[in-house]
Amino acid sequence: MNSIFNSRVSRRALLKAGTGLLLASALPPFAVRAAASGEYRIVATPARARLTGDGRPQTDVWTYDGKVPGSLVRLRQGEPARLVVENRLDQETTVHWHGIRLPIAMDGVPGLTQPPIRPGESFVYEFTPPDAGTFWYHPHANSLEQLGRGLAGALIVEEREPPAVDRDLLWVVSDWRLTDGARIAAGFGNGMEAAMSGRVGNTVTLNGRVSEAEPFRAGERVRLRLVNTSLARIMALRFEGHRPVIVAIDGQPSDPHEPEGGRILLGPAMRVDLMLDMRGEPGKRYDVIDDFYDGLSYRLTELAYDEKAPMREHPLDALLALPRNPLPEPDLASAERHALKLQGGMMSMGGTSDMGGMMGGGMMGGGMMGTGQMGMETRAAWAINGLSMTGDGHAGMEPALTFKRGRSITLTLSNATAWWHPMHFHGHSMRVLTRNGKPVPHRQWQDTVLMAPKDVVEVAFVADNPGDWMLHCHVTDHQMAGLMTVLRVA
Ligand code: C2O
Ligand code: CU
Ligand code: CU
Repeated sequence: MNSIFNSRVSRRALLKAGTGLLLASALPPFAVRAAASGEYRIVATPARARLTGDGRPQTDVWTYDGKVPGSLVRLRQGEPARLVVENRLDQETTVHWHGIRLPIAMDGVPGLTQPPIRPGESFVYEFTPPDAGTFWYHPHANSLEQLGRGLAGALIVEEREPPAVDRDLLWVVSDWRLTDGARIAAGFGNGMEAAMSGRVGNTVTLNGRVSEAEPFRAGERVRLRLVNTSLARIMALRFEGHRPVIVAIDGQPSDPHEPEGGRILLGPAMRVDLMLDMRGEPGKRYDVIDDFYDGLSYRLTELAYDEKAPMREHPLDALLALPRNPLPEPDLASAERHALKLQGGMMSMGGTSDMGGMMGGGMMGGGMMGTGQMGMETRAAWAINGLSMTGDGHAGMEPALTFKRGRSITLTLSNATAWWHPMHFHGHSMRVLTRNGKPVPHRQWQDTVLMAPKDVVEVAFVADNPGDWMLHCHVTDHQMAGLMTVLRVA
């Protein structure tokens, strides 16, 4: 462990002594500013965006408030929020507040938790976020196309006592499939893709632009919040010349640690908060590389330093750890044990795997049946415990498991497929206990657990939030094609 983890000076002492804490006056566009009000009006609307930089045509997108990514929502921990969502799209939508532990009626799943918001109508979401951290919001209706055309925004819940940093920055990273004319390519819901890695695109934006460079000052400490809003793209980020420290995953504080091999894994829907001491030299540039897919690494952006002399000689001597959130601790000794097996997907170009007798039987209906694009039949390609729930969620989904409210639960998730899956659970955070039989350091809390092919991951949580909660893969094609189930807390 790096010695910077061991602070000798408390944050309060530091603030009092005022040892070089800079409060920047002119913050870049996505700096996280102070003080939120709990009232928001968010409009889902078509708009145009310049995703690829200058000299290319503008792209038709679907947005929150005309922006890509959508408006940044900032709430305060433990304070009531009211978010009015108006639908100016020409189709139904909803908003799901991803990762927030909120009442089921506010969860944004059409048919299951609320009626869809029809064009021209509004819906009022009201909840009090119990946890501080980095979250996001997105539609849960026609998800592939609505998310794939740009409907996503970050949601930050501020700590009551935020950590001492010079700047708090947000990077929303999003993957797009664009044509040569920078239009969003049609063909959402391609059956072949749905059975493989999902719709991985060809253009990655950072806060809505390709490779936007942030100016940094040598010596400053930055809290950098990463949010991956991609439909399917998994990222593994390396910060050349820097040593990022992970302080939260999915909004939930971690024991500060450096990522394994220096690579920050960020599956679709995942968030990672980093502390970054800017140790580079004034005037220099350092690449941020995504090398998740073999042979397809690219530069996401660069860390560009201004010419100014370092702000301080030594890294800020303050605590890196974030304050804990009030999550109920599962009692492992008395926990009920359950298992969920992820099945399906292409094994090779020739066939599907491990679907047993589930094709044709056990179907739950939904949005993806019938003949899809490219003449391929788009049917359930995935299943959980032999059952395919398809689409975005809908009325009449029978829960796969029912838990008594207040019980501690362990779930063993086994990936019996040849593909990666970021598995997401609504309404709860899960402690990740083991991966492939090995204890996971710090038992990180997460709402989205990235599973490699053949991984077996054991998670635990207290089923304290009553309702019918979705559990699904956040590779949206996988969700739509059956990698989804419902867990009831009653
Ligand atoms: Cu962000 Cu049902 O998901
Ligand atoms: Cu969610
Ligand atoms: Cu998946």
